[in-house]
Amino acid sequence: MNGMSYTGTGTVTLSLDGTNQTASLPLIAGTTGPSVIDIRKLYADLGIFTFDPGYGGTAACESKITYIDGDAGVLLYRGYPIEQLAEHSTFLEVAYLLLNGELPNAEQKAVFERGVIRHTMLHEQIRSFFNGFRRDAHPMAVLCGVVGAMSAFYHDSLDINDPEHRRISAFRLIAKVPTIAAWAHKYSSGQPFVYPSNKYGYAENLLHMMFAVPTEEYRVSPVLARALDLILILHADHEQNASTSTVRLAGSTGANPFACIAAGIASLWGPAHGGANEAVLKMLGEIGHARHIPEFIAKVKDKNSNARLMGFGHRVYKNYDPRAKIMQRTCHEVLAELGIKDDPLLDLAVELERVALHDDYFVSRKLYPNVDFYSGIILKAMGFPTSMFTALFAVARTVGWVSQWLEMIEDPSQRIGRPRQLYTGAAQRDYPPLAARG
Ligand code: ACO
Repeated sequence: MNGMSYTGTGTVTLSLDGTNQTASLPLIAGTTGPSVIDIRKLYADLGIFTFDPGYGGTAACESKITYIDGDAGVLLYRGYPIEQLAEHSTFLEVAYLLLNGELPNAEQKAVFERGVIRHTMLHEQIRSFFNGFRRDAHPMAVLCGVVGAMSAFYHDSLDINDPEHRRISAFRLIAKVPTIAAWAHKYSSGQPFVYPSNKYGYAENLLHMMFAVPTEEYRVSPVLARALDLILILHADHEQNASTSTVRLAGSTGANPFACIAAGIASLWGPAHGGANEAVLKMLGEIGHARHIPEFIAKVKDKNSNARLMGFGHRVYKNYDPRAKIMQRTCHEVLAELGIKDDPLLDLAVELERVALHDDYFVSRKLYPNVDFYSGIILKAMGFPTSMFTALFAVARTVGWVSQWLEMIEDPSQRIGRPRQLYTGAAQRDYPPLAARG
């Protein structure tokens, strides 16, 4: 096979060494990408499970939403290349595409955008939730808590078996998560909450709620609004990553969508996933200057150090993450628009990338920059505090999570997610009385 993916159908025959038992397992082909072995009858036929910690070789579901070819560095939303969507589309159009499978016509686009814009306000009682947090709480902690609390406020859309309830919940989540994220920032900075305004588009509104203050007129920069919209597009979905799989697993139990998205936010928070954008800036700050790069790279390569080059490497991409390429370009454009001629962080990041891409450690392991390597530098230049980076990722990914959750609920073959295990603990034994224990 030479590492090439196999895309045919047919069967795979497994035989159990030392017995005459065999299992003939169907091979299912997708539209594109490697075929999968259907192992659902494996236990019944051979009495064995499969073992795949981290799910590196396991397809957990069937999906029509997003496709990644990690070797070629390709990312498609509903078949459309991310580069084309980044250049020509908008975040809300991409949201419609992910949710519905097709791009909207002009009327569908207008109706959808109006639907989202009209759901941006939060139940006023939700305000009091924020007061329960310490002012120095991380915005992801606040986001996770308040999104989870939405299920206590929107009782009229919690029946997951009712398509209309699901539709309203989807609108509520996509529209209200930016308000909650922006308020998490306002709360930590001690500034008054800024209510959403229907005169703005999605990204504009987010900037307005983040940065406006009652004392001054806030003019939303079209350049920054477009840059933020682009960042949201790039983060909107990424097939069965850790947080999306978390949403699907929580949703498979019949939990309500607000609880499922709160679970996704918790999963995104980790530095190996969405928390990496924040970690990249911290790392650049610690390196401080290009002359310290060799020392840092040596530390990353030292297996005893636990240090990683944050924003590098990906479970699926063994090539340049296509989002990172767009992000790098956007980074230069945004800094130019903001009149930032020399950004020491960007210079350091570019040099760090150059050194890593010429180092055999990274080359041999196929470690390339991922989406998070440059996003933090852009967001920082736009004025976002570092602690908000992952929250912005969550805002964008909410549409992916909701699309994947809807697809799962509507899938007739959907069952509760319940992996098995390889048990290596103690075999059955009898309970000893206390006096008999050594
Ligand atoms: N820096 C240094 N070494 C790395 C890095 C890195 N960033 N990433 C992987 N490696 C090394 C590992 O040490 C391992 O080396 P070994 O074979 O000698 O043991 C090899 O590359 C393979 O790495 P794994 O950990 O097996 O890869 P995995 O697919 O499990 O992890 C992950 C992927 C978590 C993204 C990893 O590359 C990483 O930690 N990167 C840094 C964090 C990051 O940027 N995360 C964002 C990912 S994108 C996103 O979620 C939006």
